Amino acid sequence: MAGLIPQGFIEDLVARVPVSDVIGSRIQLKKSGGTFKACCPFHQEKTPSFHVNAQKNFYHCFGCGASGNSINFLRDYENLSFNEAVEELAKVAGVEVPKDEKNQQVYSAQKVLWDALEYAGLRYRNALKSHEKHSVAKSYLKKRDLSPEVIERYGIGFAPAERDFLSSNAPADTLKALIKTKTVSDKYERLFDLFQNRLMFPIRNARGKTIAFGGRTLGDDKAKYINSPESEVFHKSNEIYGLYEANQVNRQLERLLVVEGYMDVVSLAQFGITYAVATLGTATNTESLTQLLKRCQNLVFCFDGDNAGIQAAKKAMENALPLFQDGMQLSFLLLPQGEDPDTLVRDEGAAAFEQRIAAAQPLSEFLFQIYSDGLDLNVAEHKGVLKQRAEEQIEQVKSLVLKNALRQKLNSITFRRSGKERKDAEPKRDLVSNKVLRDPDGGLCLALYYSPARAAEFQSILAGVKNFPRASEFACFLTEAGLSSTDELLYFLATDSTGQREHFSGLFDRLDWVPGAEEMHVEAEEVLQKILKDKKQANALKSTKVNRRPSEMTAEEKQALRSISIINPKSVK
Ligand code: CTP
Ligand code: MN
Repeated sequence: MAGLIPQGFIEDLVARVPVSDVIGSRIQLKKSGGTFKACCPFHQEKTPSFHVNAQKNFYHCFGCGASGNSINFLRDYENLSFNEAVEELAKVAGVEVPKDEKNQQVYSAQKVLWDALEYAGLRYRNALKSHEKHSVAKSYLKKRDLSPEVIERYGIGFAPAERDFLSSNAPADTLKALIKTKTVSDKYERLFDLFQNRLMFPIRNARGKTIAFGGRTLGDDKAKYINSPESEVFHKSNEIYGLYEANQVNRQLERLLVVEGYMDVVSLAQFGITYAVATLGTATNTESLTQLLKRCQNLVFCFDGDNAGIQAAKKAMENALPLFQDGMQLSFLLLPQGEDPDTLVRDEGAAAFEQRIAAAQPLSEFLFQIYSDGLDLNVAEHKGVLKQRAEEQIEQVKSLVLKNALRQKLNSITFRRSGKERKDAEPKRDLVSNKVLRDPDGGLCLALYYSPARAAEFQSILAGVKNFPRASEFACFLTEAGLSSTDELLYFLATDSTGQREHFSGLFDRLDWVPGAEEMHVEAEEVLQKILKDKKQANALKSTKVNRRPSEMTAEEKQALRSISIINPKSVK
């Protein structure tokens, strides 16, 4: 049986969703000073006496006396039960209602920690405003030129240089929770604040709960930044600094700019670039990337232009390759040496910085730039090095579209001829023997990839033909699975759990060069015609020269058999 929904959850929910949003999406509200007004939905009236107080998150009708919070409104207006109203509100907030016993216990345990961290955050914010030594922090903020708005929006605070600033005043339960989150340490004889003499950046989860802090020294402490250690509510790799704040300002996050530091996020926000976030791990690891991609499919990674930045960008790219799916856009922006987003946006302004973002290199370009580093692609051996470096990474890509595009690009780079060679040798369109397409089996697979609807036709042409094993199998798979378009095929493979994706991942591997759809159809047509012609000839030969071994054939007959080698090259030696 489902247990009671925890009271704390309901209070948070009601506090988090503005009552004016809940009511405003159902009846027309008119702004009137600090409140909203409407004709009361609960009784008949011509002049509006229904007031919604956004600040108090409460509504009241001076005509009929109806009043309450979002839940009361939903129950009365939509005729919902209490639990249904909570569910409805949770949907608006995008959160899950903790229903079963275990979820509730976890929720309650976490709530104690969230509340304690919220308490600490409040103390730090208040200290920035009014602590007797707050001028240290104030003048530092002035030096860094952070605006009051952005300080407020990101909840920036001040941890004074006292070992017991938090612990000396916290209520007993709160203190216990602060120790649990290691904001206060009990490892020594006396309790000891983790953050002292630091500018405090609260780290909030996607729902706005403070779950940890980052603290920058205000002095010359060797540790420039200290971050809260992992705790029950803080798992570094799963959290993204600035995501909550970015969501507050942007209705829809069209892209996320992933930067390295707290200061970078905050400075960019001050300059109107409100979609910057920072991951909290050292590198952009798989967990962080997964979290980022869950929030937004368009990511721009921004790194310093020094060697460490390039290595970090490379790491992020390599971790992203296996996660890449169709519809995603990943790009990379390397800043000039010695600059970070904070210094650069202050130096050149928001417009210039946004131009850099717009010009960030897409993954498909960045990959080749990274792997071409230090190579001269006019040198044949260097092309080989690039191929070796890139090939293995490209194979990690699950998206067939991206994988094919990258393979094609790799091939076009590594097989690109120098100017003179190109003039001499335009690729010939002589098929089976040609240089462009040395793998007709793979070519037919590619044609099938482009036009799965032709699978049945391919199957009948390939029946009894031995040296197109991959195309035969692929055609058979396509007809059996009833896939008639590339999209259907991609969808099938993306959602398949029976290993077909791995099974078919090597279909085009032996192609030196991947032609586009139209070109491939021309090529495939020629292959198919040749197969049909050869089949006819073979049949003719078989019916006239019954049961004759090659040794008994005339030279002419052997020659004829050889020319139909496309059907089974090993049968004629
Ligand atoms: N960092 C850290 N510990 C350090 C140094 C850095 O955790 N000792 C993390 C912080 O999240 C920091 C980020 O790495 O925001 C980037 O570090 P850095 O470039 O050194 O700092 P900035 O963000 O440029 O900070 P500032 O401009 O205040 O010097
Ligand atoms: Mn900096």
